[in-house]
Amino acid sequence: MTQTLITAALPYVNSFLHLGHLAGAYLPADMYARFLRLSGRKVLFVCGSDEHGVAITISADKEHTTPDKIIDKYHFANKQAFEQFGMSFDIFSRTSLPEHAETAQEFFLDWLKKGLLVEKEENQFYDEEAHMFLPDRYVEGTCPNCGNEHARGDQCDNCSANYNQTDLINPKSVVSGKTPVVRSTKHWYFKMGDFQERLENYIESNASKWKDNVLQQSRSWLKQGLADRAATRDMTWGIPVPVEGAKGKVIYVWFEAVLGYISATKEWAKLHNNPEEWKDWWQNQDTEYIAFLGKDNIVFHTLIFPMLLMAKENYILPANVPANEFMNFEGKKFSKSMNWGIFLHDYQRDFPSPSQTDSLRYTIAMNLPETKDSDFTWQDLQARNNNELAAIFGNFVNRVVQFLHKNFDGKVPALPERFVKLNDAWKLLLEDFGREDSKELAFEKYESKHLRYFSPNDVALIAAIHFGAKKAAEHYARFRFRDAVSETMNIARAANKYFNDAAPWKTVKTDNDDCAKTLYICSQAIGALSTLFAPILPNTCAALAKMIGIESNTGEPDLEILDRWSTAAFPAIAELTPMASPEVLFAKIEDSTITEQVERMNPTTQTTLPETEPTDIITIDDFKRIKLRTAIVEKAERVPKSEKLLKLQVNLGNEIRQIIAGIAKFYTPEEMVGKTVVVVANLQAAKLMGMESQGMLLAANTPEGTLALVTPESTVSAGSEVR
Ligand code: MF3
Ligand code: ZN
Repeated sequence: MTQTLITAALPYVNSFLHLGHLAGAYLPADMYARFLRLSGRKVLFVCGSDEHGVAITISADKEHTTPDKIIDKYHFANKQAFEQFGMSFDIFSRTSLPEHAETAQEFFLDWLKKGLLVEKEENQFYDEEAHMFLPDRYVEGTCPNCGNEHARGDQCDNCSANYNQTDLINPKSVVSGKTPVVRSTKHWYFKMGDFQERLENYIESNASKWKDNVLQQSRSWLKQGLADRAATRDMTWGIPVPVEGAKGKVIYVWFEAVLGYISATKEWAKLHNNPEEWKDWWQNQDTEYIAFLGKDNIVFHTLIFPMLLMAKENYILPANVPANEFMNFEGKKFSKSMNWGIFLHDYQRDFPSPSQTDSLRYTIAMNLPETKDSDFTWQDLQARNNNELAAIFGNFVNRVVQFLHKNFDGKVPALPERFVKLNDAWKLLLEDFGREDSKELAFEKYESKHLRYFSPNDVALIAAIHFGAKKAAEHYARFRFRDAVSETMNIARAANKYFNDAAPWKTVKTDNDDCAKTLYICSQAIGALSTLFAPILPNTCAALAKMIGIESNTGEPDLEILDRWSTAAFPAIAELTPMASPEVLFAKIEDSTITEQVERMNPTTQTTLPETEPTDIITIDDFKRIKLRTAIVEKAERVPKSEKLLKLQVNLGNEIRQIIAGIAKFYTPEEMVGKTVVVVANLQAAKLMGMESQGMLLAANTPEGTLALVTPESTVSAGSEVR
């Protein structure tokens, strides 16, 4: 394999990026791309916006605007946020470009020509007021399985049941609120079954290298058997089906978005003045293709996309799909509607400096959900920044540079007569190390041989760099990014220890030659760290390179391809190279800063909502339709076998009602009796665990994640109107 094509899932442009996106796909992809480039590998790293699909039209409706306004807004916002985050894409494209439509239509026609599409008539909901067929997310109704009244057209969020939209009970169009009618419509179905065997072989031939979660999902789909799947939708937003008589139909977003990687590569090739060059990547057996994405995208990249590539022939397939699980925030799942999570642009507003970007990259990298869901907390960001980046890496650099300014005129020391052959000796030492796989063995065999020039401390540091870089490289190659980062931080730890043990502040008085040698070695260690940390901390490493007077290379695109990784342990900084005056690499993060952020995460405060979050305005008449009344709780008991539910009898003045309330985790039955609460009195009765609930209590979310009942401030009689 001579070159690596890397793609990161094309984010939908219906919302801003949050840190979970970065953990799922983008940060590992970027670290991988930078690592490979720094290792001398030719890389093309491709991404862009996924701009079609129902998610986008729904957002447009919600924000009272049009899809093309929505995609522009989020495309440019995301592109900018990615850039500031340090994503080293060769291109960040978008699927609304005409070139992409061309590519997708070319594929579609090819499927048609090869007989891979079958036309079928099926029944679907049609909104007579909005004059449109309703895609699944555009219908809501009662789940035929569990009775949840807000089930979506294809799936119930409550019980996870899947069904046909026409099975919904009491369906309503999300567009007009009206009950839709059933009409029949024609679609092109992709004969996925034709690829069952080839896909099975493809997955199994990669099984030894792929992650368990990726294999499991792929195999479970295959086990169910691949059925025909609609490759078209009734919508106006999207890529038109390039067939006569297909007006109002577009290619299903998942059947074209994945092709966006190819279109993006074509755009890149054009911008590079070599329009045919995209083929050198996608149709070249010497390309190793790695696709990064989050767990909700797995089968689209292990089955659907490979199937489309197989169908077209001549294209390479993903060699690996190292998908991550999800990252939670402070213990809870990201939720846009609950305003729970951290948007990248919010972080960037509050922590705008390049080193703060690196702190975020580092913290996410150390918490990547590689094998299971992980958690991001503000406290952890503070601890990682203060106790690791600042106290270990930053501290080492600072001590060395300060020392040089104080004692060596701000320059890398000249090697004294006694150590004038140090670089040659260093080379021999590394050659010996290169013969061994393990540090321990290398030590045992070669340490004494090299003690003429080096102290045991010197040898230990050089070994830490050499073997640390090697181990980190192995971790990167296996997509074990957390381990790669830990390994790298261990090198900085070793460097700090070296400085302590060599105690140059003593030798500067007793043995100036030895002191000069120590600081010469320290300077080289900074040089090494500026390469080895570059995939994780590109901003800091670029600043560092500048500070120590070497050319910066953080694995950015379009640089000369050189293997800096395996040579990182060699001295790279010449004697007497001047150093800029010491600068703090990572400022400490104060407790108050963290407290402020944690408070903002409170789901009941609105401050972290992006300014543009749609607010659904209702009229006073809308509000008046909701009858709120006070009620006094007369009886309360636990619902057997339920942790959440209490069964209440409440007095509304002229009637007693039964209400099943999900408050058992926060209120005991004893506490409830006698309380005056506020209930929605004209809510349609519902059945919960077989019991009728005739209304609903009002309660507010607390910052601790519990519930606080809404109660009147002074005594009122049961059944009073609340307005
Ligand atoms: N837009 C999808 C998401 O954000 C990912 C699409 S990946 C692609 O979940 F390759 F299909 F574009
Ligand atoms: Zn359900």
